[in-house]
Amino acid sequence: MTSSLNEFLTTRKKDIEEYLFSYVHELHVPENLKSSMLYSLKAGGKRLRPILVLALMNAYGKREEDGIPVGCAVEMIHTYSLIHDDLPCMDDDDLRRGKPTNHKVYGEATAVLAGDALLTESFRLISSQLSGDISPNQKLRIIDELVKSAGALGMVGGQFDDMEAEQRQVSLDELESIHARKTGKLLTFSVTAGAILAGASDDDIEKLREFSYHIGIAFQIRDDILDLEGSEEKIGKRVGSDTANEKSTYPSLLTLSGAKDKLNEHITRAKEIVSGLQLEQQLLHELCDLIASRDH
Ligand code: IPE
Ligand code: IPE
Ligand code: MG
Ligand code: MG
Ligand code: MG
Repeated sequence: MTSSLNEFLTTRKKDIEEYLFSYVHELHVPENLKSSMLYSLKAGGKRLRPILVLALMNAYGKREEDGIPVGCAVEMIHTYSLIHDDLPCMDDDDLRRGKPTNHKVYGEATAVLAGDALLTESFRLISSQLSGDISPNQKLRIIDELVKSAGALGMVGGQFDDMEAEQRQVSLDELESIHARKTGKLLTFSVTAGAILAGASDDDIEKLREFSYHIGIAFQIRDDILDLEGSEEKIGKRVGSDTANEKSTYPSLLTLSGAKDKLNEHITRAKEIVSGLQLEQQLLHELCDLIASRDH
């Protein structure tokens, strides 16, 4: 990793976490519910989705700080999706971000409600944002993007099809569609919301949507690979969860080396799209490389 990328990730992660934790901490909600919400938020995580919002602001030469509330909104939705994904009725996992999963500590009912609360609160983070130059029209466009990315058309629909695809062989097209929605759509949100905030043209936004499609698939392929060859200590979750649940994954469909080739194809395409745009390229290229080679 280059030192400039390292510096960007370290400082921005700190800013994002400060905002996120204090926002939730100050909510007047039942104490145990808040504690359960904060438990999963504070457990760790790479904060890639908010980082992408800020990276887009950076690429357009805008103030990165103005992307923090929107970045925290998508991190809240992502964290809710992980709490629910780990439940016994879903992937039934007991380790997440290096800690016992939310339901193991707070019980299933509280874990479900903490997820619901994070999901709903995320929208207020956007709708009530007062700082920066964000206009009512930008807010509406961003909320519209978030509904389409997080809901039945996006992550939730992808999670549903992922669950339905257990214990059966799916086609590569079906699997790509599942990955694009269960994981890709939240990354698409980060990229398009960052671009909307930065005042990018509609034409740029559509090209960036295509860019985000490729990094989204690549990100989940890497996750599938790490489920097989990652180390529990580094990924902070059990390895072999997909195999135990007889999940449809890229390695199970294409073999491990086929999955790696596919990942590289998507990263190459993503970089080509960025190269065709008039914006600061370096950070986005470096983030593509990070997605391809990450070990956690
Ligand atoms: C894990 O996401 C779930 C997937 C969508 C693959 P991350 O790998 O971004 O998890 P954290 O946020 O860093 O814990
Ligand atoms: C689920 O993918 C992604 C979402 C939570 C939407 P996985 O089930 O592969 O994620 P991990 O491996 O548990 O993080
Ligand atoms: Mg899952
Ligand atoms: Mg899972
Ligand atoms: Mg996984």
